[in-house]
Amino acid sequence: MEIKTVGVIGCGLMGSGIAQMSAVAGYEVVIREINDEYLAGGLGNITKLLERAVSKGKMEADERDTILARISGTTDLAELADCDLIIEAVTENVELKQETWKALDALCPPTTIFASNTSSIPMHLQAMVTNRQDQFVGLHFFNPVPVMKLVEVIRAETTSDATYQAAMAFAETCGKVPVTCVDTVGFIVNRLLTPYLLDAVRALEAGIATAEDIDTGMKLGCGHPMGPLQLLDFVGLDTLLAIADIMYEDFKLPQYQAPEMLRRLVAEGKFGRKSGAGIYTY
Ligand code: CAA
Repeated sequence: MEIKTVGVIGCGLMGSGIAQMSAVAGYEVVIREINDEYLAGGLGNITKLLERAVSKGKMEADERDTILARISGTTDLAELADCDLIIEAVTENVELKQETWKALDALCPPTTIFASNTSSIPMHLQAMVTNRQDQFVGLHFFNPVPVMKLVEVIRAETTSDATYQAAMAFAETCGKVPVTCVDTVGFIVNRLLTPYLLDAVRALEAGIATAEDIDTGMKLGCGHPMGPLQLLDFVGLDTLLAIADIMYEDFKLPQYQAPEMLRRLVAEGKFGRKSGAGIYTY
């Protein structure tokens, strides 16, 4: 299972990061968005981040050009038909993911590996709509993808050894450290991180301290690079809410129940950094 070309579905925060990381690792990348505006936004972010590396003296200008030349953007799913590995990074919505995989299953040869970057939706619910359940695996990256070292490799019951090994090898060639998890809601990191972020919102909602002091508390008290509310704005309030709802539905444990404040902020369009406001204003 030699991977040369990687298809990425979705050019948002995660999709653009996965595309950038793959191109830096030497893969040819085709990235698909639903419209030209979103595509231009995501590709623009990749260019900006590589530009920053050049201006900091961490990358040569011709290396940046070579990396960018490896990435082509499209709004047409059919252009991903020749990819060896396709990673989806669309919104956390089961129906949307299933619809995407069904369409790709009809377009791609049987050898193409399908990987989901979902944060919380089990693989079997996605693999079941395809005719390649043995070639379906989870590759869950962390934001910002080019920087964070971890990848969770999710092995569903139907994932073949060859597909699992190919996913592990892909993660390693991208400079990541893979950890393996069974096919369960939230995997390893979100199982632990989600209650923590929700508790930070509960603490703010209860008025125990200001957002700044809650963040400073966890940064300086526990040595975290970001406080939980800063991290929430970084991950996206809409994303955390979607993850929490899926996890609560599955586990029925109070620590996964989204607080009212989170629901209200999302309803107001306050998604965090990406929308200009969340817990903080940007
Ligand atoms: N994309 C790409 N690169 C980025 C970046 C981005 N969005 N933001 C920062 N970087 C790079 C910078 O260019 C810089 O690179 P160099 O060292 O090569 O110059 C490096 O990261 C450090 O950046 P800064 O000096 O600007 O800032 P920092 O030291 O404060 O680090 C951070 C920024 C890496 C984001 C750090 O604050 C951090 O690690 N935060 C925690 C992130 C985290 O926990 N992510 C996981 C979220 S959960 C998730 O993603 C999964 C899920 O399912 C919800």
